[in-house]
Amino acid sequence: MTAYGNFLLFFVMSLSVISCKGISWLGLTVNGSSVGWNQTHHCKLLDGLVPDQHQLCKRNLELMHSIVHAAKLTKSACQSSFSDMRWNCSTIESAPHFTPDLAKGTREAAFVFSLAAAVVSHAIARACASGELPSCSCAPAPSEQAAPDFRWGGCGDNVRYGLQMGSAFSDAPMRNRRSGPQAFRLMQLHNNAVGRQVSSTASFETMVKSSVQINFVSFISDLKSKYLSLVPREMEVRPVGETELVYLVSSPDYCSQNAKQGSFGTADRQCNKTATGSESCGLMCCGRGYNAYTEVLVERCQCKYHWCCYVSCKTCHRTVERYVCK
Ligand SMILES: *[C@@H]1O[C@H](CO)[C@@H](O)[C@H](O)[C@H]1NC(C)=O
Ligand SMILES: *[C@@H]1O[C@H](CO)[C@@H](O)[C@H](O)[C@H]1NC(C)=O
Ligand SMILES: *[C@@H]1O[C@H](CO)[C@@H](O)[C@H](O)[C@H]1NC(C)=O
Ligand SMILES: *[C@@H]1O[C@H](CO)[C@@H](O)[C@H](O)[C@H]1NC(C)=O
Repeated sequence: MTAYGNFLLFFVMSLSVISCKGISWLGLTVNGSSVGWNQTHHCKLLDGLVPDQHQLCKRNLELMHSIVHAAKLTKSACQSSFSDMRWNCSTIESAPHFTPDLAKGTREAAFVFSLAAAVVSHAIARACASGELPSCSCAPAPSEQAAPDFRWGGCGDNVRYGLQMGSAFSDAPMRNRRSGPQAFRLMQLHNNAVGRQVSSTASFETMVKSSVQINFVSFISDLKSKYLSLVPREMEVRPVGETELVYLVSSPDYCSQNAKQGSFGTADRQCNKTATGSESCGLMCCGRGYNAYTEVLVERCQCKYHWCCYVSCKTCHRTVERYVCK
């Protein structure tokens, strides 16, 4: 990655809007679940796939359920891990079309690309391990399973298969020269690889501990730490490390509204008066101050169990203070 790092240093200091085919497959969340994915013409139905992804879809229809699932997971994981930040990943909802925060080579785009690449490989590896994929070497076991002295131990290849098919799918847009300037494509290929590296580490742990959920969460937080540790681009006068995310375009501070930069601003965002992190009113509101209001929550309370068999509750009203940015 050193050669790439050097390349970055002298190339493209002021890219403007780049059309972003790279993660437009996240648009599969829009209609992807309503498709049976059992006929090759299904691959043409949806916006968001580039020609190489069409081909991959046609030849590997059985992967598409995992890929649609991965697109959904990517969206929800991004939004939940950034819900307490000024940039809260809400713009991922507009996939397959993106605002400049994700369409340019920003650090936010770097995070989302690496996350999407990680999740798609992870989803394919899981489907493989659970025997859902006839094309995967994990599948053919059930007949032998009947033999009493044979214990089907899964297969060690599922992670490799996930990485292989996942990278074929998520890297395809960046391998096409027409999908943007070279610097942008190299940047995102690198970030995809970082994402897969984090996910394969987590996947190997998963096989050991068989706790998929924990590791899914852990690789998202690993990627978020990488995002948070990205140094400002102007200071980056050094080669890029293989495990670091990279970006090309500085992001706005996301404090005020600026459609050109893909910033919605934080006016009316909820903040936490007692917290000290990114969700604190100071940081979230960028020093503009906040308005307080009270909200009355209606809750079930003092529930009693009656023999047999129902529960009765009272209704309680609880008043909480809320703070929103000016
Ligand atoms: C494809 O799947 C749908 C529903 O999942 C089913 O109704 C249809 O018969 C299947 N078509 C083929 C050709 O297998
Ligand atoms: C979803 O389906 C609708 C209607 O079939 C179509 O107009 C739209 O372009 C599709 N959207 C995507 C993102 O595929
Ligand atoms: C995310 O930020 C946008 C723009 O500031 C805001 O409209 C939206 O409500 C926020 N979403 C959540 C879940 O906080
Ligand atoms: C605000 O932050 C404090 C301290 O981190 C935390 O205990 C509290 O639950 C937070 N409140 C809300 C409404 O999130």
